Amino acid sequence: MRDDIQSILLTEEEIRRRVHEMGAEITRDYAGKEPLFVGVLKGCFVFMADLLRQVEVPCSMDFMAVSSYGNATSTTGAVKINKDLSQDIQGKDVIVVEDILDSGVTLGYLSKYLMNRKPASITIATLLDKPSRRRADVQAKYIGFQVPDAFVVGYGLDYAEKYRNLPYIGVLKPEVYSK
Ligand code: IMP
Ligand code: MG
Repeated sequence: MRDDIQSILLTEEEIRRRVHEMGAEITRDYAGKEPLFVGVLKGCFVFMADLLRQVEVPCSMDFMAVSSYGNATSTTGAVKINKDLSQDIQGKDVIVVEDILDSGVTLGYLSKYLMNRKPASITIATLLDKPSRRRADVQAKYIGFQVPDAFVVGYGLDYAEKYRNLPYIGVLKPEVYSK
């Protein structure tokens, strides 16, 4: 698996430190509130598990699954909801948790979709941000790291469903996806 990785972009230790800081920021910003974390499957699962253990306000969580990618490395622009929330979010303070904000198409669509259900607020927490690729007007309130325009995997992020279990974030060798 390591042979498919060109370079390590973020080490386990760097990720751990930043995720702790993000948890502290959320704890501060949501004092006195009880946010609902909405994880976007599957990429969110490692980040969300680590982040939520650093959040010290009472909270709940739910998950959605969307698809926009297939096995390609850039978005088609279409977003499909494969799994919706299992609860009403009206009046709730929602924090959407994503692995990476790339074109912004997925989160742009999802924010509008959730906004229609009249939550008290919606913010976005993303581990990674690739601002150079943005096509939709989406702002994340909590950003772990800005990353360059390279296809990255690990810590929940996949290529063709693989590499999610890497404990770090690495740049995938281009020959892996141009094969
Ligand atoms: P967006 O709609 O273009 O912002 O795409 C967001 C989704 O694309 C993320 O949730 C990821 O699943 C996927 N994605 C975008 N860039 C990468 C990457 O570098 N590595 C792995 N997945 C990515
Ligand atoms: Mg993906």
